[in-house]
Amino acid sequence: MLGYPDMRLRRLRGNPAIRNMARETRLSPAEFVYPMFVTHGEGVRTPIEPMPGCFHFSVDQLTEEVGEIADLGVPAVLLFGLPQEKDALGTEGYDPEGIVQEAIRAIKKSTPDMMVITDVCMCEYTDHGHCGVIDNEQVDNDQTLELLARTAISHAQAGADMVAPSAMMDGQVWAIRQALNDQDYTEIPIMGYAAKYSSAFYGPFRVAANSTPQFGDRRSYQMDPANSRMAMREIETDIAEGADIIMVKPAMAYLDVIKMAKDRFDYPLAAYNVSGEYSMIKAAAKQGWIDEKNATMELVTAIKRAGADIILSYHAKEMAQWLKAAE
Ligand code: PBG
Repeated sequence: MLGYPDMRLRRLRGNPAIRNMARETRLSPAEFVYPMFVTHGEGVRTPIEPMPGCFHFSVDQLTEEVGEIADLGVPAVLLFGLPQEKDALGTEGYDPEGIVQEAIRAIKKSTPDMMVITDVCMCEYTDHGHCGVIDNEQVDNDQTLELLARTAISHAQAGADMVAPSAMMDGQVWAIRQALNDQDYTEIPIMGYAAKYSSAFYGPFRVAANSTPQFGDRRSYQMDPANSRMAMREIETDIAEGADIIMVKPAMAYLDVIKMAKDRFDYPLAAYNVSGEYSMIKAAAKQGWIDEKNATMELVTAIKRAGADIILSYHAKEMAQWLKAAE
């Protein structure tokens, strides 16, 4: 057995060149997805208070920002819409003239190579804030499937490159795959929010999307944070239903789940570095309590080291800038 004094692990840490050579995990903007919020109006770029550096963009501002993202080498954005009005059935979510649909068309025109991924869910559009249709004070699974499928089709018709169902309804990937196939969108991939937990770390997002449930919570459909084996079953079902990419969400508190999924499934694996993870770093950095860049890069490196191939992050733009500056 080789050990001290013959073995000295510090030999591989003596200078930047050797550390770089021994490095096992590297980040690249090519694996980032940048989530963005689009709202009605013109010239709108409203800061989202709990998510410093993130904005509600009107379509004209959004396309400008997407151009910048593209120049930084980030290949994809994930769109969330803020409707003009919310109602019980979240109708703007599947309106061909809805805000997300309009944004998709605008981005595909201004930056055609940008991959446009859409979040397919109802909670941004419903007045009750739940991710589906309410029947008898419950979120009704099967009625919701129909509307999720309509939403996905409306996104595909507007030119979306990929759809990402996040409502955590059983059968949502199946319903969307069938609907896409029926309409000849056989080439549109689905990224399933397969293992999505009921998480307190979505708090800032819910402020951003004004989508806090008006009664109850999401625990009857999103996963219990205590479970990891059940996450594997969620992922299995998404794959069986036709998901092309699988996801674990959130990321930071679920690195074990990411690792488990990576070991088990030969599918591209995405991890969502969610709003609360972003906001915590922003808040602590603002206080001068942590170094934002180093903390962010460490955290996102950990997400990749755990097994994520694709990282959805509100820090994507800044990370791409930092990586560029370090070239
Ligand atoms: C829609 C959706 C949510 C997030 C992504 N898609 C909110 C939720 O489930 O409450 C959260 C993203 C984040 O916190 O960054 N269902």
